[in-house]
Amino acid sequence: MNPDIRIDVFRAQAEVVGPEHGITPGELQEIQQEVSKAHSILQHERAEGKYGFWDLYKQTDVLADVKDAAKRFTEKGFDNLVVLGIGGSSLGTIALGSALLSPYHNLLTKRARKGLPRLFVMDNIDPVVFREMMRICPPKNSLYNVISKSGGTAETMSQLMIVTGEIEKKLGRDAMKDHVVVTTNPRMPQAPPSLLHPVADAYGLTEFAVPLNVGGRFSVFSPVGMFPAAMLGMDIDAMMQGCAAMDRRCEADDLQSNPAYLRAAVQYLSDVKKGKVMSVMFAYSNSLYSIADWYRQLWAESLGKRYSLDGTEVFAGQTPIKALGATDQHSQIQLYREGPNNKLINTLEVKKFAKALKIPETLSSIQQLSYLRGASMNRLMAAELQGTIDALEISQRPVSRIILPCVTAYTVAQVLYMLELETAMAGRLYNVNAFDQPGVEYGKKIARKLMGGEG
Ligand code: PA5
Repeated sequence: MNPDIRIDVFRAQAEVVGPEHGITPGELQEIQQEVSKAHSILQHERAEGKYGFWDLYKQTDVLADVKDAAKRFTEKGFDNLVVLGIGGSSLGTIALGSALLSPYHNLLTKRARKGLPRLFVMDNIDPVVFREMMRICPPKNSLYNVISKSGGTAETMSQLMIVTGEIEKKLGRDAMKDHVVVTTNPRMPQAPPSLLHPVADAYGLTEFAVPLNVGGRFSVFSPVGMFPAAMLGMDIDAMMQGCAAMDRRCEADDLQSNPAYLRAAVQYLSDVKKGKVMSVMFAYSNSLYSIADWYRQLWAESLGKRYSLDGTEVFAGQTPIKALGATDQHSQIQLYREGPNNKLINTLEVKKFAKALKIPETLSSIQQLSYLRGASMNRLMAAELQGTIDALEISQRPVSRIILPCVTAYTVAQVLYMLELETAMAGRLYNVNAFDQPGVEYGKKIARKLMGGEG
């Protein structure tokens, strides 16, 4: 049986860090009522089909299509899978890739990669990076998955145009269908039209739909994340089981049994009652660091809102920050312990790393290193983590822990799914719409106008 992830909010409580910085039992009891009310609204709206992300793991037919297409394209033996997309269209794949592939996947030989392609996620428009990627991943041996829910994002469209030009030049127009896969809005009358539809039609491309009721940052378990995952040989079924298990754990509104709601309540109360206006996601494993990045977008875009659901100006939201242990102990911890006490620190921990590494019995002439001799890097990492959270406790800094028994497709999916649900609940507690991003639009319009397009 797959072991489940665990959460532990003990160190974010008043009992540990004092009532000025930690949540009191009374405050938790008090918020339960609001959580229960929000839960019934969310459940009701889920049944109405408002929150597609919640049920993506049940879309077995879509996942079957994804797997079929991945099998078909894998058989072509591509060396490179290049994802073109930005924000919610890329961060999920980056998080999954970092968590579930070898840390040096792209540097391995094809044989060592078991024939799987290398992964390149192009989530920016830096001309130097993109040019170099095109040199390293030429059309001949690359599959490009262009992902844009709206199908109009300038950054992604410019990338696609460069790729299309190159494919047409090097391989001819007919080759497009063998080298480009499109993921975008569904073709429905009620869906906003995507510019990727006419592109797919013109070239006969394989196309996946992002359900209309699934926003970019909540789309990792749709074809947005699952097609690249399948191309990279990840265990999609285990991911779906992870989502299902977390969904079951989050069925009740009770804070004591529902990990997503408990975390949402602690984060929300820490912000509005204890002045923890920042939420650090501190990953104690390189493999989980990109989840912190994914979370940064999820938390920021979902909760950073000027207006509440009833139109009042609220300027809501906690600033999410990503950090990596033990690395950032030598960069951030000084601030986190002695700077303003305005952060809730979330740790992303792994109980058992996939591999162990013993520190050999060398440098025996140096007595001061005897504590490391014969130990393991695993133990050292665990000690660094323990040292950090204990030190934070001494400084009365609240910590909320997410603990993975090990990093697998199943546990990583649980983490992502829980954080999505936590964000949905936090949106209700802040009384803001967690599913739109009106603040992003204005800058995009100005940029389009500057480029000579419609403002
Ligand atoms: O979460 C979101 O909705 C955004 O971050 C989008 O994913 C991002 O702006 C990219 O949009 P699109 O997928 O439409 O190109």
